[in-house]
Amino acid sequence: MLSLLRRLKSRVLGLGSASYEDGMDHELGFWRRALADQGKRWDKGAFAFRTDPEAAFHQQHRDFIGSSAAADRTSLRVLDVGAGPLTTLGKKWPGRTLEIVAVDCLAESFDQVLGELGIVPPVRTTKAFGEELSATFAKDSFDFVASANAIDHSRDPMKCVAEMVEVVKPGCVVFLWHYRNEAVREGFAGMHQWNFDEEGGDLVVTGRDRRPRSCRAELAGIATVECLRDGKSGEAVAAVIRKRA
Ligand SMILES: C[S@@+](CC[C@H](N)C(=O)[O-])C[C@H]1O[C@@H](n2cnc3c(N)ncnc32)[C@H](O)[C@@H]1O
Repeated sequence: MLSLLRRLKSRVLGLGSASYEDGMDHELGFWRRALADQGKRWDKGAFAFRTDPEAAFHQQHRDFIGSSAAADRTSLRVLDVGAGPLTTLGKKWPGRTLEIVAVDCLAESFDQVLGELGIVPPVRTTKAFGEELSATFAKDSFDFVASANAIDHSRDPMKCVAEMVEVVKPGCVVFLWHYRNEAVREGFAGMHQWNFDEEGGDLVVTGRDRRPRSCRAELAGIATVECLRDGKSGEAVAAVIRKRA
């Protein structure tokens, strides 16, 4: 109740007083409710897709892999960072074998929720922080890395980006999809501490100090960055980061 009041205060007054830890509780509560009735009050289609072990790997993701150094590989290892309890990645791609690895900092709590609800995920999310991927996974070990609506919820998104680039193989793609300027929209409450936006084709990340940080500049010499506004009315940003071969 206390955390709910703090979040309301922060939304209404824009004071950003809900702590990051409150935000984690909120995230967990969201998923507990969303999954409790097979997604009926959340998104039935998404629930069905995410729990289907035969769900098709997204065409857009196939295209990124097809345009990368992994194009001709038949066995692919892919990583979802900040996957939540049920990764958004599709599971099957005819003619290719996919090893899908899903990580999230709240994985242990998600496991508890899934267990309580009797849901067996086709891909089990394991615990890892986006900021520490190279402590868990070898450098250059994934053919494709994705993160959707997640690393803007992290404590250090630029570190997450650098770590994703570290673990993706040379010549391969890191794909980021996030809502624009979530921290401003959410009043800097809870896990919403960072704004992602597109400027001149670059992905620009801004925090409470309003100091913009350019992904292109931070990854110069290591990877290229192409960012576009996405969504029905440009409410999101999609960034394709290609690690140098
Ligand atoms: C809004 S949810 C999105 C989950 C999923 N990607 C989706 O689109 O449904 C954001 C997720 O990012 C995770 N997250 C936030 N910071 C993280 C970090 N530093 N490392 C790993 N996961 C993180 C949260 O725990 C949460 O599950």
